[in-house]
Amino acid sequence: MTRRAVIAGTGSALPRTCVTNEELTRRVDTTDEWIQERTGIKMRHIAEDDELTSTLAIDASRHALEAAAMDAADIDLIILATATPDQTFPATATKVQAALGNYGCTAFDVAAVCSGFLYAMQVADSMIRAGSATNALVIGAETFSRILDWDDRTTCVLFGDGAGALVLSAKDDAEAGEGILACQMHADGRHHDLLYVDGGPSTTRTVGKLRMKGREVFRHAVVNLAEVMHETLEQAGVSVADIDWVIPHQANARILDATARKLGLDPGKVVVTVDRHANTSAASVPLALDTAIRDGRIQRGDLLVLEAMGGGFTWGACIARY
Ligand code: UT7
Repeated sequence: MTRRAVIAGTGSALPRTCVTNEELTRRVDTTDEWIQERTGIKMRHIAEDDELTSTLAIDASRHALEAAAMDAADIDLIILATATPDQTFPATATKVQAALGNYGCTAFDVAAVCSGFLYAMQVADSMIRAGSATNALVIGAETFSRILDWDDRTTCVLFGDGAGALVLSAKDDAEAGEGILACQMHADGRHHDLLYVDGGPSTTRTVGKLRMKGREVFRHAVVNLAEVMHETLEQAGVSVADIDWVIPHQANARILDATARKLGLDPGKVVVTVDRHANTSAASVPLALDTAIRDGRIQRGDLLVLEAMGGGFTWGACIARY
C-alpha cells in the first residue's frame, strides 16, 4: 500500500460560439476540404469578449468538483496550465481560486504551452505523493484565438478555445496499479523558433501572435510522442496491449494516427476530439478526457495514457488507472 494520486473527477467548458471551416473561408484563402484533409478539424469554439481563460477555467473546475463530489474548500492545491493567461500577472490560478471561494491554498500557473496540462499533472502528482497536497485541482485553459494572426491561413484555422480540469486526490492505501502510475516530461529549447509567439513583456512589450513551421513541428511530434509513451509505459511496468485509452493532445488527426501506428496501437483506442474542438493547447488533453468520460467510453478501472507535445519544444506523457 502506498500513497498515490487518483483521479476523483473531471470537468470541461467551451465558449458559446462555434465556428465552422466554411465560416473561416470568408476570412482567409482556405477550404473546408483542405482543413479536414490535413488536420481532421471541422469546427472550433471561439471565445467572445466576455469569455476569458479564467471564466472557462472556473466553469471546468466547478464541473470537476461536482464530479468528484467535493467542495472548493476541500482543495489545497490549484495548478492552472495556460499560455494565454488573463493578465501577465497575477497567475490566472488565483482568479479561479477567488471565484471558487477557496482562500489560502497554494495556487499558481504553469507555462509549457500544449504540454502544460501534463506538466501540471506531474507537479500535482509529485506534491500529493510527497504529502504536501491532498486534493489538487489541475486545470488546462486557453483562449488561443486572442493570439492568432487571423490573416495567416497556415495557423488561424488550427486552434480553438476551451478548458478542462480534474481533481487529483491522495489515496494513502492505494493498491499497486491504482491512480497515477508514471509521468515523464521533456523539453528541448533548441526548437524554440519552430513554434512561438512573436511578442511578450520583456521583448516587444506587446502580446504578440502565434507563429509555427507546421511541417517541422509535425515531424518532431510523431517521433517525440512515440518515444515518451514507450518510456512512460516502461516506468509504469505496463505494455501497449494493456492500454485501454490514449488521450492525446489534439493537434492534428494525422499526428494521432501516425503516433498510434508507430506504437502498434489500435486506432480505435485513441480519443479524438480535434474534429470538434481543434487544437486548444493546454486545454486539449483534459477536455478530451472529460468528453470521453462523460460519453461513457472511459470507465472506472481503465488504463489511460495522456500525452502532449508543444512549443518549446516541450512534451510528455502520464499513465493513470482511472
Ligand atoms: O499544438 C502544438 C503542436 N502543433 C502541431 O502539432 C502542428 C503540427 N503540424 C501540422 O499539423 C501540419 O503541419 C499543418 C496542419 C500545420 C499543415 O499541414 P501540412 O500537410 O504539413 O501542410 P504544409 O504546411 O506542408 O502546407 C501544404 C500547402 C502549402 O502550399 P504549397 O506551399 O504546397 O503551395 C501551404 O501554403 O498547403 C498550404 N496551406 C493551406 N492551404 C489552404 C497552408 N495552410 C492552408 C490553409 N488552406 N489553411
